[in-house]
Amino acid sequence: MRKDLAHGRPPNESVIRIGHEAADAVRHALVSRPAGGPVAIVADQAVVAFAGRIAQGLQGVGIDARLCTMVADERAKSLDTVGSLAAQFQAHGITRSGVVVAVGGGIVGDTAGFLAATYMRGVRCIQVPTTLLAMVDAAIGGKTAVNVVLRDGSLAKNAVGAFAMPELVVCDPAALATLPPREMQCGLAECVKHALLADAGLPEWLTANAMSVVGKDAATIIQLVARAAAVKVAIVDRDPTEQGERALLNLGHTYAHAIEARHDDRIKHGEAVAIGLIAAMTAASRLGRVRHAQVEALEALLERVGLPTRLQDVVSSPDPAATLRRCMDLDKKRAGRGLVMVLPEGPVGAGLVEAPPEDAVMAGWSAVGAA
Ligand SMILES: NC(=O)c1ccc[n+]([C@@H]2O[C@H](COP(=O)([O-])OP(=O)(O)OC[C@H]3O[C@@H](n4cnc5c(N)ncnc54)[C@H](O)[C@@H]3O)[C@@H](O)[C@H]2O)c1
Repeated sequence: MRKDLAHGRPPNESVIRIGHEAADAVRHALVSRPAGGPVAIVADQAVVAFAGRIAQGLQGVGIDARLCTMVADERAKSLDTVGSLAAQFQAHGITRSGVVVAVGGGIVGDTAGFLAATYMRGVRCIQVPTTLLAMVDAAIGGKTAVNVVLRDGSLAKNAVGAFAMPELVVCDPAALATLPPREMQCGLAECVKHALLADAGLPEWLTANAMSVVGKDAATIIQLVARAAAVKVAIVDRDPTEQGERALLNLGHTYAHAIEARHDDRIKHGEAVAIGLIAAMTAASRLGRVRHAQVEALEALLERVGLPTRLQDVVSSPDPAATLRRCMDLDKKRAGRGLVMVLPEGPVGAGLVEAPPEDAVMAGWSAVGAA
């Protein structure tokens, strides 16, 4: 089974090909619309064998494909890496009419996507996501960015970036063959988020198919990616430059960023999002936006797919709620505004809430086990 999703508006259309063999799909795209000169493949070192097959597929039809690798680390998602890759592009003779093929998770996709948006003022880009999270979220929608190291050594995440739609996104389930189970689960957290935002039937489907997803059954992965990606595509198509609705994709993230700020070394982003979704659903329930049964249903779903629902599931001694609450303010101070949260509303959907009542925010923290 294969599925294509059309995305974007002229002149920034994009196609998301789900269930295609990556080497075939990339070769087909570059034979149909050739690059002028060599093509750069920027790959995560963890998937260099998979990226090598894409390079060989291109070389097999006479396309000059040059493989550059990077480490997928938030500190390597940087302007330094962009500079070093750009120097490699120059050495390989990549021109204004070249093409960048990004092969990796969100870190490589964001970095190579930003380089494609800016190298010689912008070249074509193809994304080949190799994590579930990147297939349903990061590779879609044309947001690219790198992090900046601040004077105190902390990271300003995604501080420098650009909107630049990839012309093609290829989601090949075979790319996930080597992905560690914990990373699969992080992708599932974003799928659950998309279900809460706009796909009322997806929780039930996920509950029924959790084992096949975790077992990476190709047909099941294709169905999941098609459904979860469609939610993001629809939202981004209505609000490509995040003037309003696109911000809803941050559901659960205000809590998640505070958790990550305090427990970064032990918790992964998707795990923090899972806990953040419970906190946000609880806050919404306190405000009468959703029924309490929805909090319980979400908890059951996250447990079913193997995601944490409480801080204690991932850290031995969680921070006090007041400390985590202060982190939310720091995050927002950087964004230059007061606390604005995305909170679920109704059986499916969410909305932005400015300055939410403190007792509701704190009810979220206590529901996830903050001390
Ligand atoms: N641009 C956007 O709209 C957007 C949206 C969401 C997230 N993001 C960004 O995405 C990044 C997170 O992306 P991610 O979760 O895909 O993580 P990632 O790119 O860090 O990959 C996670 C880990 O899995 C490894 N890996 C990737 N694919 C693999 C494979 N097939 N086999 C074995 N190992 C593999 C990586 O080396 C890394 O260690 C963050 O930087 C975030 O800011 C961007």
